[in-house]
This record gives sequence, C-alpha cells and structure tokens, in this order.
Amino acid sequence: MQNEYEIKKQMCEIGKRVYNRGMVAANDGNFSVKLNDNEFLCTPTGVSKGFMTPEYICKVDANGNVLQANKGFKPSSEIKMHMRVYKERPDVNAVVHAHPLYATTFAICGIPLTQPIMPEAVIALGCVPIAKYGTPSTEEIPDAVEEYVQSFDAVLLENHGALTYSNTLLNAYHKMESVEFYARLLYQSRMLGEPQEFNQAQIDRLYEIRRQMGLPGKHPANLCPNAKAGKQSCHSCAGSCGTGKDAAAGSTSDADLVASITKKVMAQLGM
Ligand code: 13P
Repeated sequence: MQNEYEIKKQMCEIGKRVYNRGMVAANDGNFSVKLNDNEFLCTPTGVSKGFMTPEYICKVDANGNVLQANKGFKPSSEIKMHMRVYKERPDVNAVVHAHPLYATTFAICGIPLTQPIMPEAVIALGCVPIAKYGTPSTEEIPDAVEEYVQSFDAVLLENHGALTYSNTLLNAYHKMESVEFYARLLYQSRMLGEPQEFNQAQIDRLYEIRRQMGLPGKHPANLCPNAKAGKQSCHSCAGSCGTGKDAAAGSTSDADLVASITKKVMAQLGM
C-alpha cells in the first residue's frame, strides 16, 4: 500500500499528465484521493497542476474542512463537488476534474456522448451524460452531478468540463483520457461524415465483455431499467432512460421514463 507521501507524488505526476495533454489550461482542474472516511488529499486552488510538488497537496475532512495545508495553499475551490461524489459512492477513492477540449466542447453545446462508435468507449464508459450547469464552487455543481453519480463514472459538466471518478487515482485519470478520446473521435467522425454506430446486438456483446472483465465502478449497462427488466439494454440514453438516482433506487415508473425521454428529445430538437 502506498504511504501518504507516495500518493502526493502520484498526484503531482497525474497533474503533469493532465497539464501536458492539454486537458486543462493555466491553473484549471483539480483532483483528490481518499485516504480513509475522514481524510482526503486534494490539489490546491489557483495553481497550475502541471507544476506541483508534494508540499502543494492539502488534506481535508469529509466536509471539505482543512486538516493540513502548507502556507500559501488552500484546498481546491471545487472540493464540495469531490466530497459529494465520495459521500454518494463509497466505492470511489479518487476524483478527477478537468476541462479537456473536445469533451468540454460537447458540454458547452449540450450534447451528451451517446453514440456507440468504438468498443473501448462502450466498454469503459457506456454513454456520458451532462450534468446541468452550476456555478463553480457552489453546491449547484454537486447537486447537478448527484443525479448521475450512482450510474456513471464519468459526467460532463454543462458549459464547464468533465468529472471522472474510480477506485484509484490512475483509473480515475484514465477515465478522463477515455472521455476525451471518445469525444474527439465523435467530433472528428461527425466532421468527416455520419459516424457508423454499433447495433444493439454488438452493444450487448460489448456489455457482456465488460461483465466478464469484472471492471470496477458503475456503468449505465448495469443499471439501465430496460436491462433490469430483461429487455434490450440501451446505450444511447445518457441518463434519459432514468439511470439516475431514482432509477438506481428502483423508483422510476414507466410514465416517468417516457416523460424524461420526451423532455430530453424535445430539448435536443430545440423545442
Ligand atoms: P481550483 O484551482 O480552485 O481547483 O479550480 C480550478 C477549476 O478548474 C475550477 O473549475
């Protein structure tokens, strides 16, 4: 098991990758690691995450209050968003927030990543919904993210960026890479022509591979109410099938699903 100092060093390494891959500009982005139920390491606010050393990293409690921070450093202004994910998902040990160019472009245009176009994206992510816009640093973003946190390990933040979380920092970071690669492929294939989508049988085979791999975390295929009811599981729902909090709790009725799908389709048609 890594000691605290090694985790801080790994956070600096991940900061370099996030910055060097252009997933953030200037001082943007933040990430955190859970040490135990009441101790979390997080990146400091207002610094470039590409140039951090272990002394930069802050420690907070489960409410985001500072437990330890060196002079001149304060925890990320988005710590509430991280803490909400940990509160709702006890299986999560690391959270990554970035502004990758293509994923953020989709988030700005209000387009969720739903088209099943390549095996790795379907297996790793399923689809990626968009949590509605919230003012950074307020409870608005945690509240918006909470809707999807039980069914997805990756969420776009409307007009803002992306959020990923997993059992380890490396896995949470890799999920961010996967989101950005998927968004980039989707963008470029739409530029070139009409992306060819997998059919339902192909999607179901990929979902089966995911189950056999025993991958950690949540995936819409596991919680889709259609799949639970023994019907074909949907891919391109991005939460519209009700894979959010209510569905995970098993309380979404058919009428709610129809209303939710209708609302999303009308919104996408600009009606
Ligand atoms: P912090 O530097 O406070 O973590 O904020 C960066 C950011 O990207 C906010 O969305």
